[in-house]
This record gives sequence, C-alpha cells and structure tokens, in this order.
Amino acid sequence: MRMEAPFNYRDNLLYAEDVALDSIARRAGTPCYVYSSNAILGRYRAYDRAFGDLPHKVCYAVKANSNLAVLALLARAGAGFDIVSGGELHKVLRAGGNPDDVVFSGVGKTAEEVEFALEKGIHSFNCESEAELSLIDALAARLGAKAKVALRVNPDVDAETHPYISTGLREHKFGIAMNDVEEIYSRARWLQHLELEGVSCHIGSQLLNPEPLLAALDRMLELIDRLRAKGIAIRHLDLGGGLGVPYRPSEQAPSISDYITRIRNRVSGRNLTLMVEPGRSLVAEAGILLSRVLYRKRSGEKEFVILDAAMNDLIRPSLYRAHHEILPVKRDESRGTVVADVVGPVCETGDFLARDRELANVLPGDLVAICTAGAYGFVLSSNYNARPRGAEVMVAGNGWRVVRQRESFDDLVRGEMA
Ligand code: LLP
Repeated sequence: MRMEAPFNYRDNLLYAEDVALDSIARRAGTPCYVYSSNAILGRYRAYDRAFGDLPHKVCYAVKANSNLAVLALLARAGAGFDIVSGGELHKVLRAGGNPDDVVFSGVGKTAEEVEFALEKGIHSFNCESEAELSLIDALAARLGAKAKVALRVNPDVDAETHPYISTGLREHKFGIAMNDVEEIYSRARWLQHLELEGVSCHIGSQLLNPEPLLAALDRMLELIDRLRAKGIAIRHLDLGGGLGVPYRPSEQAPSISDYITRIRNRVSGRNLTLMVEPGRSLVAEAGILLSRVLYRKRSGEKEFVILDAAMNDLIRPSLYRAHHEILPVKRDESRGTVVADVVGPVCETGDFLARDRELANVLPGDLVAICTAGAYGFVLSSNYNARPRGAEVMVAGNGWRVVRQRESFDDLVRGEMA
C-alpha cells in the first residue's frame, strides 16, 4: 500500500492536506512546523492493521515528536507509547494516553522516574541492567506493587545506519549482552516484586533495509525459546523502532505493512504479544518546517540562501549531516534553480540546513518547506542565540490550528534570575 503524500502542489502552490502553506505562514508566522494529522494516522493504522489478529501493541516512540496534539491524536487512535523519561510520561498522560499502554525504555532511569511510572501503573519497564532490576524491585516493594519488566537485549546485529543512531552492537551502551540474559533472568526470578514478562531490543534508527531488524527478530525468538525452556514465562517481545523513511527522492523505504507482515509470519502461533516502538516512520514524513528566505548573498564562488530557520530549529543537518529536501512553497519553474548553501541566522559555521544544494531559485520573502521534518525536528530544537522557538501547527483536511504557540521574549527569561 502506498501512502498518499501529505504535502502536494496544486497550481504550483504547496499544500498540507487541503491547506495552502502560504496561508499558514501568514497567520502563524515563520519558522513554523506543520504536521498532517491524516498522514500520522494513516501510518499508525498501517502498523496496526498489518498485525491483523496477532496480539500486539504499537507503542509510538514519544521522543520523535512529543507535541501534545500528536500524542492525543495517537492516543485516540488506540496507540501505546514508548517513553524514556518522567517528562514524557507526564506528557502522554496529559494527552489522554492510557498508562497500561506505556513502556518505559532508557539506560538511565532515576528512582523518581521509576516511582512515578509505578504509581501511574504503566505496562512495563524495558530494563537495561541488573542494577536497574534491583531498583525497580525495591521501589515496587515499597509501593506494594508488582512491576512488569522486559530485559532490553543487545542482539549484536549491525543496523547498517548512521553510527550515532546505531545501537544494537555489543560496543554500544544500550541493553544487556545476549549471553548474559539467561543468567540475569535466572537470578531475577527471586525478586518478589517483579514479573519477568518480556524481552525487548532496538538495534538502531533510520533503517532503509529491514533485514537487520528481521535478523534481530530471529535471534530474539531463539532467546525466548531458551528462556521458556528454563520455565521463564515470556509473554511479550518488544522489537523497538527503527524503520526508516526516504529523505531523498532517490531513497526507498520498506513499506510498513510489508515489514510488519514479515514479522507476523515469523511470530504467529508462538503465543507471544508483539510490540513495536516506531517513532520516525509514524511522524517524519507527516511534518515540514516552514521558513522564509531573509537574504541571498554571494561570497566568492559560493551562493548563500539565508533563512529565518536555523540549526536551533532543526539540528539534524548540522548534527548528522542529514539531508532534508527543500521545496519552494510557490513553484515558478521560469526562475530556474541555484546551487547554494542554505543557512540560518545562528552564529556558527555549522549552522546550515543544506550544503551545495541545487534548489529552486528562491528570493528574499519567498517561503520554503524543509521536508520530512516531523521526527526529531522540534523536539531537538533549542533557544540557542536566544531565539524563541517557532510555532507548531496541526492540519486536518481543510482545517488547521496552532498546537504550540511561538515562544515570546518572556519565555526566554522564564525561571532565570538577574
Ligand atoms: N525505541 C528505542 C528504545 C529508541 O531508542 C528509539 C530511538 C526508538 C524506539 C524510535 O526509533 P525510530 O522508529 O524513530 O527509528 N535523533 C536521531 C534519532 C535518534 C533515535 C533514538 N532512538 C535522528 O534525528 O535521526
């Protein structure tokens, strides 16, 4: 199934669903993130439907985009959530998420965070060390609760993705080595306030080839067989997130439904609930960063397009050399193209959104859409250079609303003391 693209030209004007982006820019200002609710829902449903009657939970990885409107949309659609902090749990609950559909991942959970999660009654903890198991057991004992836990296992497969977002090798800080899992689970059986109910893994992000994910699945299924043979009643397998999206027109991503169907075929009949934690594949393509061209300038041989959006708004190009397509909101082919560095106002050489890029010959005052920015965009933004963060907007059909106000100068000094 090919998903309809949420951002399309009509009469040379770029639309988000049925809303022209220039009308959003006029009223909400720039820079501004724009999300398509139907694109997010379509992707969530593609996951959910492909599982069919296999017992499953699709737990959206909140870190990818934690705007309350995104969380509320997914909560209403029936999604679960993968969180990595007490703050993310707070946001999920505020958005109407059901605590029993929440899994808590992360290598450094604090006692306060574990207690908060136990009090709210989340579904389970993905545990990354034996010390963490003991801490959860002790805190659960104090609250008279029983905590469901899954060990996060490092399946030692190479995700073949960017080194900063690859996590599944032995040398990475994440998870417990495959060889140690059985021993740790055998010892943890005596911890009275834990229910050893699952295993989990996450090998990396932005995988355009699903084979490493399926290789990890096979290793995890073998592990489950060994644990069950020892009498440890594993009920769920959490495969993490990681499915990639095309950032360039030349890239192809595996379809969500093909990927899940391949998982389902391997897992069905095993009396196992399958969980996944997709972040990027649900929201990346559903969002753009809308920005206005401030200046054009030439320096020696180089041409620069200077935008009002910068690395503090979208850090992925600076941090990972990530590629984001940049489209003009008004298309005018008679203007031709230009090869330029697309940069922002921040005082850093590393502040760029594209380098040596051929793009439409946009001029000061023109609007551009920086594409595929719905995941790891706004959440990684900052106030660097005392720049107020931009607005966030949610589109549904021909309607739209601001779902986070543009920050003000007062926001910049909140909590600070002179
Ligand atoms: N589950 C766990 C345990 C994770 O660590 C992550 C992502 C996910 C799920 C969601 O993965 P996804 O489906 O989004 O690939 N800032 C980077 C990505 C960091 C990903 C960290 N972990 C970027 O902008 O590419």
